[in-house]
Amino acid sequence: MIMSAAVTAQDWTFTRAQSLPPYAFVVSDAVKARVREAGADIIDLGLGNPDRPTPPEIVAQLHAAADIARNHRYHPGRGLLELRAAAAAWYARRYHVSLNVTSEVIITMGAKEGMSHLCLAVLDRGDVAVVPDPCYPIHAYAPQIAGATVEYYPASLEIPPGKAIAEAIARVEERGQRVKLVIANYPQNPTGQVISREALADLVQTVRRSGAMLLHDLAYADFDFSRRYAPSIFDCGVAADAVKAFAVEVFSMSKSYNMPGWRIAYMVGNERMIAALAHMKTYLDYGTFAPLQLASAWALEHGDRFAEEMRELYKVRAHALVEGLRAAGWKDVAEPSGSMFLWTKIPRAFAGKGSLEATAELIESAHVAVAPGIGFGPGGDDYLRFALIEDPPRLLEACSRIGRFLKTRL
Ligand SMILES: Cc1ncc(COP(=O)(O)O)c(C=O)c1O
Repeated sequence: MIMSAAVTAQDWTFTRAQSLPPYAFVVSDAVKARVREAGADIIDLGLGNPDRPTPPEIVAQLHAAADIARNHRYHPGRGLLELRAAAAAWYARRYHVSLNVTSEVIITMGAKEGMSHLCLAVLDRGDVAVVPDPCYPIHAYAPQIAGATVEYYPASLEIPPGKAIAEAIARVEERGQRVKLVIANYPQNPTGQVISREALADLVQTVRRSGAMLLHDLAYADFDFSRRYAPSIFDCGVAADAVKAFAVEVFSMSKSYNMPGWRIAYMVGNERMIAALAHMKTYLDYGTFAPLQLASAWALEHGDRFAEEMRELYKVRAHALVEGLRAAGWKDVAEPSGSMFLWTKIPRAFAGKGSLEATAELIESAHVAVAPGIGFGPGGDDYLRFALIEDPPRLLEACSRIGRFLKTRL
């Protein structure tokens, strides 16, 4: 009998995984590894990974909750009532909106997980989602992983977001299709733009008129540099109940409280969308470890000062980096209005190079790593993103290195 060669995993096509391009932040890993191997100290401003530890008071709550045996069990899919109630109280305090903790709040394993599984729950092949360009990658890829196609709207300062979204919706409708979901994110990653209540109300009304659903990512709720709280879609001037009819919003513990590795966030709003996500999650996971949820509830109730400190820290860092870059000869750089990023055009010294090559060049020649703009959307290739994850002295060291490199290009 002739034995045919065994089929291995090598022979199969992984359509979904293979259709995804390399993730924005890993594309320059190989360059970084090579430069580090040669002994260089790279100042890495690529990934937006908060550098400060979680406040010890929050960690102490985690320790105490981890010592209680019942906290080691499986827990309800929508998250512990203690955390859902703390999330609702957070909304009531900041945004004067009342949420039903049973039907309008769900705890997720980070905002990224929540948004991804929401898209998987509500989108399908043939559906269309309207997403920002540039954007945090999951805003474009969660719909695509779910089988939908995306129509981009420019997240640029020149066009008001409501208008940009209305135009994107019109393009889709001209093709005879309907938009099912619009994704927005203010304060925005990667551009650092913030939104006024009025502009957010206009955005919300635009989506409402179109009949689409809305997902707003409020991960940087505490990082609007001009005010204490960035506006919520549920407190933008449009009646909260009307917004709840078609929209959800997600907030993450990662940024305001320096808890990125804890993987915890919450999504609130439309009960049908929340129920679809909860249903999906009953198949996929059992939620986050209860002590993480209990410590998060404590942080929401007692931790406003941590979030305020973080906003001031990023504001100071943004200012230092902008001044440093200007002094280094990087001319067209504007200060971000919020978030923890600086998004800036690639200067002419890079001789027309795209963002991947410019990033590689900065790593190799200046030993400074940034994130290439192309990783955030098709319109991002003329830009680089600096994450504000080092204190001013190291940011200024990065600027001097960049300045020395730019001089070689004059
Ligand atoms: C806009 C935005 N949303 C969500 C996240 C991630 O949040 P989480 O850590 O809760 O998944 C990030 C992280 O960079 C982000 O920039």
